[in-house]
This record gives sequence, C-alpha cells and structure tokens, in this order.
Amino acid sequence: MIQLIRGFKDILPGEVEVWQEIEKVARSLLEDFGFKEIRIPIMERTELFKRSIGEDTDIVEKEMYTFPDRKGDLVTLRPEATASICRAYIQHKLYTSDPVQKLYMVGPMFRRERPQKGRYRQFYQIDAEVFGVQSGLVDVQLIFLLVTLCARLNIQDVEAHLNSLGCPQCRPRFRSALTDFLSSVSEKLCADCIRRRERNPLRVLDCKVPSCRAALATAPAVLDYLCDDCRADFDAVTETLAHLGITCVVDKQLVRGLDYYTRTAFEIQTTSLGAQSAVAGGGRYDNLLKELGGPAIPATGFAIGFDRLAELAGLNASDLVQKPDLFLAALGPEGRSLAFNWVCKLGLEGIRTEMDFGNSSLKAQMKRADKLGCAYVLILGDNEIKTGAAIVRDMQTKEQFSIPLPDIIQGIKKVIRQ
Ligand code: HAM
Repeated sequence: MIQLIRGFKDILPGEVEVWQEIEKVARSLLEDFGFKEIRIPIMERTELFKRSIGEDTDIVEKEMYTFPDRKGDLVTLRPEATASICRAYIQHKLYTSDPVQKLYMVGPMFRRERPQKGRYRQFYQIDAEVFGVQSGLVDVQLIFLLVTLCARLNIQDVEAHLNSLGCPQCRPRFRSALTDFLSSVSEKLCADCIRRRERNPLRVLDCKVPSCRAALATAPAVLDYLCDDCRADFDAVTETLAHLGITCVVDKQLVRGLDYYTRTAFEIQTTSLGAQSAVAGGGRYDNLLKELGGPAIPATGFAIGFDRLAELAGLNASDLVQKPDLFLAALGPEGRSLAFNWVCKLGLEGIRTEMDFGNSSLKAQMKRADKLGCAYVLILGDNEIKTGAAIVRDMQTKEQFSIPLPDIIQGIKKVIRQ
C-alpha cells in the first residue's frame, strides 16, 4: 500500500472541523482589522527565496524543495509566504493606488526539516503583511492581533518574545563586535557556524546546535548596539505594548531564521509544544522590497504555524462536527423512491438529510440514524403512503409530528427550524 510522504499529513474529518474553525476565527479577526486576502502560487523561481530569505539560512541551504522543471529552470515549493507576497506587491505595482496595503493568506508551505511533533515538511501558515507604514505601532498591532487570536482560540501559556535587529545604520558596529566575539570562541563552533561567520555572522546566533548555543551565551546582542532611531522605535514598541496590557519578554537572543528582518522581530512562544516553541513569528523588513527590485517602502508582518495552533487550540472537534438534521427511514420501492426525491430537495433547503440507499430493515435504519446522531427521523413505509401522512420524530424529546405528504418539504422545514 502506498503511504504518505514522511513529514506530510492528511487532515481527516473529525480534525478538519478544528482547522475550519481556526481559519474562520483568524479570517474574521484579520478582516475586522482591514486585511484583504491575497492568493499566491505554491511554486516560485528559486531565486526569489534565495534573495529574500538569504543564502546562508537553514531554509535556503538545507530545507527547500528545489528542482529543475522540465525546461531546466530552478523552481521551489514555497517555504514561506512573505517573499511571494512582496513579489506580487512589486509585480502588480499594488503601491501605485496606495502604498499602504494589508494583505493576508492561508495555505501550505514546504520545508524539508526533520519531522517531529509540531514540525512537518508540509505545514500551513496564516500569513499577514502590512506594506507602507514605517511606524512601530503597526508592529504592536500585529503582536496584539496574534495575542488576541490565541485568546479567542483558548490557547493558554503563550508569551510574546521581542527583540530589535536594528537597521543598516547600526548593523556595522554590531557586526564587527560579533565577528570579534566569534573569533574568540571559534574552536567551539560547528562547521556551519564557521562557514557562516565571515559571510553572515548574524546567522551564527540562530544556530540550534547545543554546543554552539552554550558558546554563544555571552555573544554581543544587537539590542545593545542600536542607533538612536532604532532605540527610540523599540522603546515606543515596548511602551505601547505595555499600555495595551500585553506582557512581553525582551529576548536579546531572538534573531529569527530569515535574513530580511530589520528593527522589531517577535515570536509568540508556548511551553506546551515540546521543542517547537514558536506558534508564530514575524517582524519588520524595511529593506526587502527595495532589495527585490521594488520601491523603498517599509513593511512588517507575521506568520502563524497553523498546525501548531490546531494542536494547541482549546477546541473540541466533536463539538464542531455537523450532524445530520434528519434521517429518512424508507421501506419498499415506492417509499425509497419518494425518500430519494426528498433527500435531494431537502439538501437544497439546507436540511442535512441522510437515507439508506439499500434494502435495510427498519431496525437497521434506525440503528444507523442513531449512529449518525440524526436529530430527527422520518419513517416512510407503505402505511404512510396509504394514509398520506408521515411521522417525524424528535430523537431527543421523542416528540412526534404528523406531516401530510403533499406538504412534506415545508412541513419538515417547519419542524426542524422551529
Ligand atoms: P517562520 O518563523 O519561519 O516565519 O515561520 C512562522 C511559523 O510557522 C513558525 O512560528 C511556526 O509556528 C510555523 N512553522 C515553521 N516551520 C514549520 C514546520 N516545519 N512545521 C510546522 N510549523 C512550522 C516565516 O515564515 C516568516 N515568513 C514570517 C513573517 C511574515 N515575517 C514577516 N512576515
């Protein structure tokens, strides 16, 4: 039997209801805050991700599903959405009507990481991006949205972690302090860190190897090297978060796994998911649009790990599963033919109706109605056809209603919708 690819998964009925509910809550929250949906392709030119996420990141170096298409062009299954949304914003010149655009998308991403709880090779993100606003207040609003979404989904034990990654103004001084530090601990670093040390020293700070983590515990932090503007921006962000009553942890070691960030970077972390602590992550990326050949427009955004949200959400799939309204227990060829006609008509009226398409006995049909959790059952046999009226029974209260056959659709609607 052919099985799923490792790290990929099916989301089956009984679980999918939780996903639908999360998506509904997230969409409604984002749309209440003015976000518009954008749909982007699942595959892009590899170059787009290399240039935006960064050549020295784990994602680009080790995790992308990249292959030549049949003409030899290198294409990649998207590992994230920010790069594609930026490409679309630039390509369709969305900034000409208004540089300020608030966009969101929901969909699958692909990273060939080692699968474990909360980490998959095809996973889903709810991604939101805001273009055209320089103020750190938007970063605060994004964190506020994430915290609100977690609260609406009954997710407890979440904490907002926050750092500033500075700007091209403050980076050189920090970079030189970090390079000096890395030389002093170089014998303790892994091969990846040694390689990245010269090309992209900030990446070293994101290394997950335990011995590197230990060696880097006393590394200089960008936060201590911010220029005046970045410092003022970060202070305004933390103060505004405090005004909104959002407690956040200033985490000097938070550098994120993608290269494009400037200034505020954040993660929503939880203690309930084992090693995979980040439910969502994001931050400001003021230079990316320009680096991709677009206008110099600032931007900020986040992505939520949908799979992780589904594992954490205090939602019960059984409360969300929609049960049938009615079971038509029909007997005999005439009864079954009439019942089939009604099943189709009732479906169009939004009454979820089931019937048995075989020759089962009344007892077997009643058993099935019970198994499906149908709220009402209608019995239609020779007797009902002869008398011209059917009985609908409320399975919970055991109340019974007689409905004349010529008015059956309206009669059922009245009983069920009462
Ligand atoms: P990211 O931190 O790489 O950021 O991913 C965001 C979230 O996606 C993570 O916090 C995590 O919940 C989820 N995630 C990542 N990898 C996996 C995986 N293998 N399995 C399950 N969940 C996963 C970004 O993707 C940026 N594009 C966020 C952003 C938007 N920054 C600015 N705008």
